[in-house]
Amino acid sequence: MRNVIRLINPYDAGLFPEDFPDKEVVNLASNENPYEPSEEVKEAYLRAVNKISRYPKADYFRLKEAIAEYTGFEVKNIAVGCGASEIISCICNVIVEELDRVVIPMPSYTLYSIYAMLRNASISFPVFEKYNVDAEAIAKEKPKLVFLCSPNNPTGNSLSRKIVERVAESADYVVLDEAYVEFSDDSKIDMVEEFENLIVLRSFSKFFALAGMRVGYAVCSAEIAEAIEKVRLPFSISHPAVETAIAALKSLDYYENVKKEIVAERERLIAGLRRIDWLEVYSSDANFVLVKANKEGVVEKLAEKGILVRDASVMGLEGLHIRITVGKPEENDRLIEAFKEI
Ligand SMILES: Cc1ncc(COP(=O)(O)O)c(C=O)c1O
Repeated sequence: MRNVIRLINPYDAGLFPEDFPDKEVVNLASNENPYEPSEEVKEAYLRAVNKISRYPKADYFRLKEAIAEYTGFEVKNIAVGCGASEIISCICNVIVEELDRVVIPMPSYTLYSIYAMLRNASISFPVFEKYNVDAEAIAKEKPKLVFLCSPNNPTGNSLSRKIVERVAESADYVVLDEAYVEFSDDSKIDMVEEFENLIVLRSFSKFFALAGMRVGYAVCSAEIAEAIEKVRLPFSISHPAVETAIAALKSLDYYENVKKEIVAERERLIAGLRRIDWLEVYSSDANFVLVKANKEGVVEKLAEKGILVRDASVMGLEGLHIRITVGKPEENDRLIEAFKEI
């Protein structure tokens, strides 16, 4: 076995409802969308059942056409994958050679480091003042690849255009992970037109409430898109996943309304959490909220009360940090009550 495998920690997906079979749990741990799919999506899923004895068409052209219309780019600029997760792996495979410098400002999504490590990259994990990305410091590292995330998981904060621009000028390649961007209205996807080395990553798991279907995409230069497509597993997106993603893109009004609910709830949740004096609450542009808890064992105490949240301390933060997904109003109320009881 390769030595690096011994160094890689398994991806820690946090607590899942299945871990508590005897409890009615509120799951605020995985940044999922708590609302149901649209009726069109449900119907598309059922129709797709008739196709599952066949392979999906490996160029995924219809899915890419629908994404092209949604993003305003051309099909040649789009690569698709089994979740944004698979595309992160593909990007590392097509870009990173042994000992290439990969910069992952912390705290950030933990999957980037796993796939960069698998390429035997030389990875740096800078932690900047107040977790604000310092583009000049990154430039000094002369990176081959930088992973930026906006809104960032787990802080919830968006990056400015200026920062993305400066990083794109100084690195060979930049991934801008916009998995949560629809909750922020602050996308920089248009910058792909200007920067050939910029890869914007998107997911159907969050805004489009399709986490269980596994569909993600990248918008980037035609050359990079083609390279990603070359190394992706040929049939990694199933028929139901393709059809539900296309149907979701046809139900934009439905998801815009869901988003309005989530964003309003996010602000109500933040206000409620700020009334608890042992919590420091971050602002958020995403569908989750990060808090620093000045008390021990909070994640476990919430789990005892049937509320699952994510211990984000492993993501490169100092002190006990908890990431809370914005749930439905009654779920958020239960969480705030539980915090008060603790
Ligand atoms: C920042 C970020 N990028 C990518 C992903 C992976 O998304 P997907 O479900 O599309 O694989 C996640 C999932 O939580 C995430 O938080």
